[in-house]
Amino acid sequence: MRTHTIIALASVSGAIALPTEQQPLYDPSPRSFLKVQEELKKAEIIPTVIDDFLPSLTLSVSWKKDDADLGNTIKPKRLQNQPSVSLYDEADPDGVSPALDLSYVVTLTDPDAPSRDDPEWSEMCHWIAANVSVSQKTFSILPMPIFGAVDYEEAGGLDDVVEYKPPGPPEKTGKHRYVFLAFAPKNGTTEPLHLSKPKERQHWGTGKERGGVRDWARENELVPVAANFIYSQNKKQ
Ligand SMILES: *[C@@H]1O[C@H](CO)[C@@H](O)[C@H](O)[C@H]1NC(C)=O
Ligand SMILES: *[C@@H]1O[C@H](CO)[C@@H](O)[C@H](O)[C@H]1NC(C)=O
Repeated sequence: MRTHTIIALASVSGAIALPTEQQPLYDPSPRSFLKVQEELKKAEIIPTVIDDFLPSLTLSVSWKKDDADLGNTIKPKRLQNQPSVSLYDEADPDGVSPALDLSYVVTLTDPDAPSRDDPEWSEMCHWIAANVSVSQKTFSILPMPIFGAVDYEEAGGLDDVVEYKPPGPPEKTGKHRYVFLAFAPKNGTTEPLHLSKPKERQHWGTGKERGGVRDWARENELVPVAANFIYSQNKKQ
């Protein structure tokens, strides 16, 4: 009787073993988003650069050989070319969410110019790219999520409001935080956005110390939805 039951259970679970026994390939919300929020706080990006927020999308940023990974360190020479950026909706791999139709903006800012201890030029605007869309990730087929696999050129139509300026941390200024933020229009429009262009990179054109991406986003009625960041420093320290 006992043996019988076990066999029956085994065959039932055998039939459904694949989906239930596999580890999730990528931890979907809300835990992975809490982790991003926590790393942003640890690095003092929240609240120095942006007010506290809980991400709702995943932002991947990839250069030729390196990926941004919430505070890893990458040499400046490997950051010379514009990275590919992709936004993913981890909570919605089937792509039925209205988030897919919005047009997003990705920015790169350096709050540590010329150094974290003395950020008198900060923030420095390194990039504003509009017309970023949410990519779908095919969990069921691929063995691993392929971050950065969707090239921005193939994905079509990144629209540079401010062109990518590669990180160039000066000598003897320690590690700089290079912060990528993705924003959505507060009004939820699916139309192309009309964004203001900062008059200069330094202070994002605000003319005030610590002026930066937060001011610009507020002016353009954008709300943060995703983030990633790296550290980089000049090799002469
Ligand atoms: C925005 O992206 C779409 C495709 O995703 C493209 O057709 C369009 O030309 C892009 N617009 C701009 C202003 O880059
Ligand atoms: C919605 O907000 C975006 C970004 O600020 C702006 O470009 C657009 O004109 C606004 N659209 C409407 C209908 O208010």
